[in-house]
Amino acid sequence: MTKNKNYHIIKIAEPFAPLLTEHKRIKFYYGGRAGGKSYAFADSLLIKGRQQKLLIACLREIQDSIKDSVYKLLCDRIALYELNDYQIFENRIENSVTGSKFIFKGLRDQDVQHIKSLEGVDIAWIEEAQTISKRSWEILEPTIRKDGSEIWISMNRELENDPLWVMVASHPDDRTLVRKVNYSDNPFCPEEIKIQAEKCHQRSLDDYHHIWLGEPIKQGHTKLISSELVRKSFLQNILTSSSPLVIGLDVARFGDDSTVFCFRQGRLCLKFLSYEKLDNVAVANLATGFIKDYRPQRIFMDIGGQGAGVYDILKDRGFGEIIRGIYFGEKAINEERYFNRRAEMWDSVQSWLASQPQVQLPADENLFDELTGINKKYDRRGRLQLEEKEEVKKRLGRSPDKADALALTFAEPVYESSEPQIYHRDQLTFEDIFNSAHEKGQTTW
Ligand SMILES: Nc1ncnc2c1ncn2[C@@H]1O[C@H](COP(=O)(O)OP(=O)(O)O)[C@@H](O)[C@H]1O
Ligand SMILES: [Mg+2]
Repeated sequence: MTKNKNYHIIKIAEPFAPLLTEHKRIKFYYGGRAGGKSYAFADSLLIKGRQQKLLIACLREIQDSIKDSVYKLLCDRIALYELNDYQIFENRIENSVTGSKFIFKGLRDQDVQHIKSLEGVDIAWIEEAQTISKRSWEILEPTIRKDGSEIWISMNRELENDPLWVMVASHPDDRTLVRKVNYSDNPFCPEEIKIQAEKCHQRSLDDYHHIWLGEPIKQGHTKLISSELVRKSFLQNILTSSSPLVIGLDVARFGDDSTVFCFRQGRLCLKFLSYEKLDNVAVANLATGFIKDYRPQRIFMDIGGQGAGVYDILKDRGFGEIIRGIYFGEKAINEERYFNRRAEMWDSVQSWLASQPQVQLPADENLFDELTGINKKYDRRGRLQLEEKEEVKKRLGRSPDKADALALTFAEPVYESSEPQIYHRDQLTFEDIFNSAHEKGQTTW
């Protein structure tokens, strides 16, 4: 009598009703973030699996571990609704009443064994379908061959030519249902998510259309920074700025990269200084000289590679207050919006260039190529990501060292009031500071 006691409280939002009520070979749902696709698919499958014995395959392009899959979502829904007839195993879920079974697989690198195990599948759910390759689809589709079997697809579109979009949804036949759902169609959409969507709307229409309205990034719109903005900044003639001086330091990682210092005061980027083939001590000496001559409020440096050694030397010299080490790959300050720190800093460059009053960069064609040569993409959480450095290098023929140095000046906000203490000790000369830092270093031996 306890059987199905909670059946009726699982509510499927209206746009997803066909998942349960219609039979179609392919059910293709696409749209922006938070349309309710994943939840509706999970809930509908759990309902179906209680009605009759089904083999359900939850598929994605890459699944390095079960953690990448919708396994956790299904487990959460089972727990929430107390569907005690479902038994959860390490890498599958079974219904003890009907005998239904959920399995989880990645399509890339699948071997013959994998494909064979999919032949009896009643429903295949392809999640994050924008990442499915043409090859994976061509292997999968004929494998799901059982009479009455269905393929359910959920996708947040990435590019105009996403393979599955082109092959399945752009010209659907009458065995294919295609539906768009956005957060505004999701009756369960949390307020907080609506606020995030509205914020994005205010910030960038392009991003809003892509992330929240599910439109693909248009070809030609994949550049992070537009040529026009950079050109404009080259034409300005700001003479001085009273904003604190910030230096971005990108230390060469390999023999063929340059070490670059970028000097910026608020909306005025004063200059770039590039050096080749310097050892750590030489870079640290340059930085020390700049601290002495220009009194920067902060020096942000990349410490992912060689920079770490330079950072240690500067710290030892007593400049801990001024220097900050940044890993490009570390998690962003705003983790919701950015894939990593580097994407966050580069996006700050873009906002800075787009801000009013107009900002100024030194007119420099290398800098132009670097800034406008980087493509953006979005990860599956809709967070901004930059294309891989190797790709950029192939196109540019070098690393975007100047642009990275500029991006570093945006690592953290720098306020007037946070002026380093060492500049306040008026009676001390720079040499005094340097010597005392040096002595302090020696006493630690
Ligand atoms: N049936 C539901 N019950 C409760 N909340 C839901 C339901 N469906 C969606 N939501 C809410 O909406 C959010 C977005 O849904 P999700 O399925 O993750 O969207 P999508 O897969 O389209 O990005 C979820 O995080 C959840 O808060
Ligand atoms: Mg989803």
